[in-house]
Amino acid sequence: MKRFIHFDELARDSRFVRQDSAANNLLAMLPDDVDTVVDVIEKFDPIIEASVRGTAAEPLYEEYGPAFQLVVINEPILAGDPKLTERLQMRVHGILVGEMQALEGAARSLWDFPDAPWEFKMNMARQAWDEARHVQIQEKLLQHVGGEIGMYPESTFLFEAACSEDPAMRVAGVNRGLEGLACDVFRDMMRYGVAARDETMTQAMDFVLADEITHVRFGSEWVKEFTRNDPEHFARTQDFRREVDRRFSLGGARSASPDAAIQIAVQDRLDAGFTKEEIDEIATLSAGGPSKDTLQKALVILRERHEARKAQASAGQSGAE
Ligand SMILES: [Fe+2]
Ligand SMILES: [Fe+2]
Repeated sequence: MKRFIHFDELARDSRFVRQDSAANNLLAMLPDDVDTVVDVIEKFDPIIEASVRGTAAEPLYEEYGPAFQLVVINEPILAGDPKLTERLQMRVHGILVGEMQALEGAARSLWDFPDAPWEFKMNMARQAWDEARHVQIQEKLLQHVGGEIGMYPESTFLFEAACSEDPAMRVAGVNRGLEGLACDVFRDMMRYGVAARDETMTQAMDFVLADEITHVRFGSEWVKEFTRNDPEHFARTQDFRREVDRRFSLGGARSASPDAAIQIAVQDRLDAGFTKEEIDEIATLSAGGPSKDTLQKALVILRERHEARKAQASAGQSGAE
């Protein structure tokens, strides 16, 4: 089996639809400026449109235009929301493919570094076992919220943080970046489960979150071990984690802002070996993106332009008849 695959080589069966991750990654780079947000998202419109065709995201694209993902992911999941079903299905589908990418990341950390200490390999094997169970749990939860595998496209933007050829960078990306985000998301799903009195959701996410804290702890410990006596190497892994955390803040959807879609799970992260300073840093990184006000204004403009294009296209079509 090949070592060190490129993220594009992540294999899936025919049920899955691969989405260009450019649209996800661009969220991380958006500044707090309405015109720039509109310009950047419009530039990606053809890619976004192509990636949703034939999936459950197509009606959302038709309704909101290229910024539909911002509509769905930047709002908290609340019981009673008219778009609750879509939000829940998109979130759980995203979690399911995230678990599969975490499984691939952990299993590849075991395979890619044959000279790593035995304890590291045992930790990665334990994580791969946990992630395989999580995939099964999330598949059942997706059915529980009325969804099915492949209904939304899969972006590899999580897995892109899991391909470093340096073991310290690998665990910084997978076990602190990706698994840290998992803690934030699962704590948020528990919040939703309690509010909606959905005991299945609450209990399943509680069990999964307990494992994720252990996985982050593996990362916290192994980054230290792999960079022992090499402060410069440690500093590089911290820079990489910051970069990953900036991307994983999803344009501020995961942040410390009180109206954020996903809050930073402070206590869980402390339990998992993040320092208070690191958690404050993630809050600062995620606050650097566009504010909710900026996004809402941009969404209005993008939706109007989308409507105008649709009207023009249908006028052109009826003129041609
Ligand atoms: Fe997991
Ligand atoms: Fe995990």
